[in-house]
Order: sequence, then structure tokens, then C-alpha cells
Amino acid sequence: MGEPPAVSALSLAETATDNPKKAIEQEINPWDVSAATDEEGNVLAFDYEAISRKWNTKLIDQELIERFERVTGKKAHRWLRRGLFFSHRDLDRILDFYEQGRPFFLYTGRGPSSDSMHIGHTIPFEFTKWLQDVFDVPLVIMLTDDEKALFKDNLTFEETMQCARNNAKDIIAIGFDLKKTFIYSDLKYVGGHMLLNAWEFSKLVTFNQVRGAFGFDSSTNVGRIFYPMLQCVAAFATSYPELWGDDPASDFRNKKTAQIPCLIPCGIDQDPYFRLLRDNAHRMKNPSPKPALIHSKFLTALQGAGGKMSASNANSAIFMSDTPKQIQKKVNSHAFSGGQETLELHRELGGNPDIDVAYQYVTYFEEDDDKLKTLYDGYKKGEILTGEMKKECIRLTQEYVRGFQERRKAVTDDLLKQYMEPRKLDFGGNPNPIKKEKKEGEKKEEKK
Ligand code: TRP
Repeated sequence: MGEPPAVSALSLAETATDNPKKAIEQEINPWDVSAATDEEGNVLAFDYEAISRKWNTKLIDQELIERFERVTGKKAHRWLRRGLFFSHRDLDRILDFYEQGRPFFLYTGRGPSSDSMHIGHTIPFEFTKWLQDVFDVPLVIMLTDDEKALFKDNLTFEETMQCARNNAKDIIAIGFDLKKTFIYSDLKYVGGHMLLNAWEFSKLVTFNQVRGAFGFDSSTNVGRIFYPMLQCVAAFATSYPELWGDDPASDFRNKKTAQIPCLIPCGIDQDPYFRLLRDNAHRMKNPSPKPALIHSKFLTALQGAGGKMSASNANSAIFMSDTPKQIQKKVNSHAFSGGQETLELHRELGGNPDIDVAYQYVTYFEEDDDKLKTLYDGYKKGEILTGEMKKECIRLTQEYVRGFQERRKAVTDDLLKQYMEPRKLDFGGNPNPIKKEKKEGEKKEEKK
């Protein structure tokens, strides 16, 4: 989901030689993500508050997390508590909807450019599954085989379609509820009402707007210029008439269905698409509400903050197909350490868990906040050694990958077909919605 492309080392190097003493700002867009560098050329960590400020998103604060817990009656996921999902647009509005028992749906996606998924790909899907379980709502998963063939010169449409099939099996292994999940490949599904939405939407958007959002120029192929329309209209419920029991053969899209709002979990790099969508959703013939978003940070590469896991670099990430031995080896030899050079120095000065990749991975998987704090404090004080932190990281990661691999074995071609079949979905939503009047009454009470 929202896998940002590999860091463009070439463009970084070129700029660096032109201006040897100049720091370079971070670059974040759907196809190119690179961290900032300082005057000496050192790669810095991503500055997520800066990107949130620049793009005018809201940071997820403690108050919103508490409201989330109150409204859903569920403890916030550790990735919310620990800020991996750190920013949003209108998440509070989705909570209002849930509170009132009104329907909404989840939409996320993946660009299928390789067969091998790593934990940087699966973690966002795990979070989406958790949201689906908590809210009991429909989920659509878009596999953008069209996008990847258009944006990668070395990939054909046939190849990305194959990747989409294989990735879909991995995604199913995350454990999404079949009754309320629809997975589709753009190249196979898009037609009918979704294509109608895409054309209607494209009529509302000028080349200038798309160029402004994505930096295209006059030599960009026209497929790339049109593609954003599809990623946008995938957030309209009317793009999937089958899921709501509407007639896909009708010339008319259901006006009521158009009003079902959407929540999109995605990497922050995907935000430019959805800004375009939020600016124009109300201008459709059957207007749709602005989609809500919940943004994640990038998952840290084994080499450290400022890098990102990449499918084309086997040593940058833990892959879902790695054996326990491979995981152990990768962490031990490649995970960037915030520890000191020698054991004596580490005991004396303590380590830096904030830049320690093994510790970062422990924060992804260890559920127990107290245990995490003990590890953090102990490492800082030099009581816990790099080797011990790595051991903890290896154990948790192996356990996660093992569970995935077991479920993956059970994913057959027939099961894949069932998830990818457009059909009416079956979902419950909030079992105890609050009536609107009552809610307002309660608010008055609180104020007194
Ligand atoms: N463009 C995304 C990628 O390259 C795939 C995608 C499509 C997506 N729709 C999405 C990701 C919605 C997150 C949310 O991976």
C-alpha cells in the first residue's frame, strides 16, 4: 500500500556535486521519495511534521486517539499509539459517522511492481485489517497494475497483471474477512460505472491541476496523465455497484450510494492524489463527500532512518518469504545500530534507541507498552546491549513472518477468485449507534 519508489540516488548525487556545501531538502511524492541531506551529505531522517505542515494535513493527537477509543470501544492499535500512523484528513468526521451508525467504507491499494512483498508492504495492510475489524465495514483493495506498467519503463502490462495476482494472494494471507472485502486488478475490473466515474471526473480536472499535483510535463505519456483519475474515483462507492447491490448494467449510478463516505489508509506520499479528489468530489453529478485519510510514515529500511525498504534491495527489508535463518542474518549484519563502538563504551555511555533499527522493528511488533519502555530505557542506560536488542527484534520478526507464511499456504487459486469476484458485501457497522438527538443532548451535559 502506497509503496513509495526507490530513493533516486542519481539525482541526489548530481545535485550534491553541483552544490557541494548545500543541504538538500527531502522530496516526497507518489513516485519519488528521498530524505534530506545536510551540508556534509549525510542522509537525515524524514521530517514528518514538516510534510504535514506543507500539505496542510492534521497530526493525529492524543485527543483524537482517545475519541477513537471512546467511539469504537477498542484500545487504539499500537501503530496509532506509537505514531506510525501520524496524520489524517477528516478522520474525526468518519468517527461521527460511525458513532451515528451510518455506513462508510475503507479503500486502500498497492502498486504491484514486484512479486516479493516485505514487511514494509504488509504492515499497512495489517493496519487496514484492524480498522476493518474494529469498524465492521466493507473494504476495497485496488491493485494498480495499470499504474505500475505506465510508470516503470521496464515493466509490461502482462507482467504487472501477474504481480497483481501474486500480491493479492499475499494480501489475502493478512486475514481480511472475505464477506466484506473486494480485491481487484485495475486492468481486469475497471469498466462500467468505475470507468464512467473516471471519465466524468476527468472532465472536471485540467492538465494544469494534474501537472501541479504530480509535476508532469509535456513529454509525459498520456496514460500517466489520465491514471490519477482512476486512483481518485476508486474512492467513490458508485465505482463498485455490485458491492452495494446496485445494478452494474444500468446506465445510471445510484445517487444514494454516491453519498457513502470513504476512509483511505495510505502512505503520506499518496496524499497528492487524494487532495485532487477532495477538491473535486463534490462537483460530480452525484456528489460524494470528501474522502477521509489516515496517513502512515515510511517503514524504516534495515540501513536506518532516511532510507526505506525497497523490493529491489534484498538487504534493505525483511521479506515475507524469508526463512528464520535469513531474518536472523539480515538483522545481525544489516540492521543499523544505535549502540556504541565497543561494549565498554556502550555500558558507559548507553545507546541511542531512536536511531536503532532493531529497536524500531521492536516498536512495530511488541504489543506491551511497558516492555517496550523497559527496552528503550535500558538501551539508553547501556544496560541492554545491541546484541540483546537485535535478538528481541529477530524473535518478534520471525514470529510475525512465520504466522504470515502459515496463512499464505492456505491461499488457493479458488480463494483468490472469491475475493476478486464483484459481489454484494455483508457488513454490520456499529452495533450500538448513538441517536443524533441523544448525542447532542450529551454534549450539552458535558458543557455544564
Ligand atoms: N499508488 C499506490 C502504489 O503505488 C497504490 C494505490 C492505489 C493506493 N490506490 C491506493 C495506495 C489507495 C493507498 C491507498 O502503491
